[in-house]
Amino acid sequence: MKYHIQHFESLDSTNKEVLRQAKAGAKQGLVVVAAEQTAGKGRLGRTWQTINHALAMSVLLRPDLPASEISKLSLLTAVSLHDALALFTPKVGIKWPNDVLIEGKKVCGILTEMQQSDDGIAVVLGMGINIESPPTWDTNMRTPPTSLNEHCSRNIHKDDVLQAVLEALDTRFIQLQNQGFSPILQAWETAHIATGKEVSVHDGNSYIQGIALGLASDGALRLLVNGEEQRIIAGDVSIMESKT
Ligand code: BTN
Repeated sequence: MKYHIQHFESLDSTNKEVLRQAKAGAKQGLVVVAAEQTAGKGRLGRTWQTINHALAMSVLLRPDLPASEISKLSLLTAVSLHDALALFTPKVGIKWPNDVLIEGKKVCGILTEMQQSDDGIAVVLGMGINIESPPTWDTNMRTPPTSLNEHCSRNIHKDDVLQAVLEALDTRFIQLQNQGFSPILQAWETAHIATGKEVSVHDGNSYIQGIALGLASDGALRLLVNGEEQRIIAGDVSIMESKT
């Protein structure tokens, strides 16, 4: 894909900027990067802080896919980020739905949004990657955070990560066009750190506990609860400590 990269010192949110430009007719491949976000958006209506040289970026797609397939682009993004960060450290994993982790701690969050306009459907893939750690982290996060530099022997620069992420996304898009979603879903399953483990899922209101079985074909989490399989559509997964 041909990328057109725009760098901003400060924005409300790179996702919002891409959606604004999409409305005005921007083409697939627009990449917006901001050094600071004043209203960064997280999943489930939360805010996202862009701190200490974090990489905040959003990519515009105008996919030729049925609506039912569009949610899978978040999984493709998680797999691409996994591919890209694995170039810097081998200890990368994915936790449903699309958190990218290093040794169980969150290094990257993904927020995919879409918008229908006269030009068709526009999808924005928003990614927040922690490159350096602040002196102290916000302790309210459900999954403990980390940064790439905490796990690398050399200092990683934001631009190297941006480049690696865009290349990995491109490779996975080409794979999607040539082979469909199945190798991407397979790569997601292989990288998923919670499959087979006892987990607690918080949907904002309540907790549900069970054994994570993996992905359903629509991207839902398959959870074994009291011997019955349930599908979880949204929430945060915490892996329960093993009692042994
Ligand atoms: C999450 O809650 O895990 C998702 C966080 C996604 C944050 C990124 S930072 C770049 C892009 N712009 C936003 O406003 N949000 C996403």
